[in-house]
Amino acid sequence: MLHTALCSMLGIRYPIMQAGMGWVARSDLVAAVSNAGGLGVLGTNQLTPDEVRAEIRRVKQLTSQPFGIDILMAQVAPSADERVQRYTNTVQAFIDMSLEERVPVIVSGLGDPAPIVPEAHRRGLLVMSVVGTVRAAQKVVASGVDAVIAQGHEAGGHTGKITTMVLVPRVVDSVRVPVIAAGGIADGRGVAAALMLGAVGAWIGTRFVATKEAYSHPAYKERIVAISEEGTVVTRAFTGKTARVIRNRFTDEWAQREGEILPYPLQQEAVGREVFVAARVHGNTDIGHMAAGQGAGLITEVKSAAEVVEELAREAEEALRRAARGYLAEPHVPAR
Ligand SMILES: Cc1cc2nc3c(=O)[nH]c(=O)nc-3n(C[C@H](O)[C@H](O)[C@H](O)COP(=O)(O)O)c2cc1C
Repeated sequence: MLHTALCSMLGIRYPIMQAGMGWVARSDLVAAVSNAGGLGVLGTNQLTPDEVRAEIRRVKQLTSQPFGIDILMAQVAPSADERVQRYTNTVQAFIDMSLEERVPVIVSGLGDPAPIVPEAHRRGLLVMSVVGTVRAAQKVVASGVDAVIAQGHEAGGHTGKITTMVLVPRVVDSVRVPVIAAGGIADGRGVAAALMLGAVGAWIGTRFVATKEAYSHPAYKERIVAISEEGTVVTRAFTGKTARVIRNRFTDEWAQREGEILPYPLQQEAVGREVFVAARVHGNTDIGHMAAGQGAGLITEVKSAAEVVEELAREAEEALRRAARGYLAEPHVPAR
């Protein structure tokens, strides 16, 4: 019942993509999701090219199913600054190895992937792009992407201002490629709603952070379980671009220092990898970067990735069946 055009396009069982998440979505999570019938997507941000190459190869060992890779391809003005050059070189290395290793799906998490589309297609690979506005969707479609991921304001990580409920149908109406919905989807009702909005599937981040296989300290996963939908803030403090994270001492301190925040990627380079990994590796939730979306309010337990995929699919099917039977017209329909 849940089979959509996305399943046919990617050769997967359920229209569920686990979002690329820097540091968090590493080979164990990616392979677990792909083995469970979704599409696992490797995050690259904050990893070195050697680490990413090793992760790609490990995914291939752990699953024979398709998987993807997410690369932040934000257009950065050429600069003599050594940190900007290092960042640009690293991104190019991620792109080159994704093509060489023939990763089946390449996703640009930020920016227009125009320069890589012809070569990716020549190698039989799909290219998708995460967007937060109709304008950005039209731009990447003109560049030849195979699908767009419309990500609303509720999302964890870098995020725009338009909410998922409005953005997804607007993008669906504005482009002629399949659209995948993202932002705030953390249970099967959200997956069903995404399909109702005209999307062919869902791109889900925060729900997969709170899984056993996510590459993160248990303290970060437990924070996601503990907070409500009010527990996140949007800040430029970590990277220089607006991103939704769990509110903590670091975000509160930078809220007073807005004027000092550098543009992307300089702020990210200035903050440094130690802050990025503080919560994820050392469990320091006071200062660490803990990307998470408002959907955290819907997450009550750390589970295995396979359980999450199965539950999302089962709940979505139930929600769609209820709708098909007209049950939604009745008051007090139990949600779950
Ligand atoms: C922990 C975490 C890390 C993320 N890192 C990245 C990243 O490196 N690149 C990227 O394109 N998006 C990143 N995102 C955004 C996700 O890819 C995705 O678009 C978002 O999580 C979807 O919204 P949701 O969290 O409400 O499911 C991250 C999100 C989270 C929660």
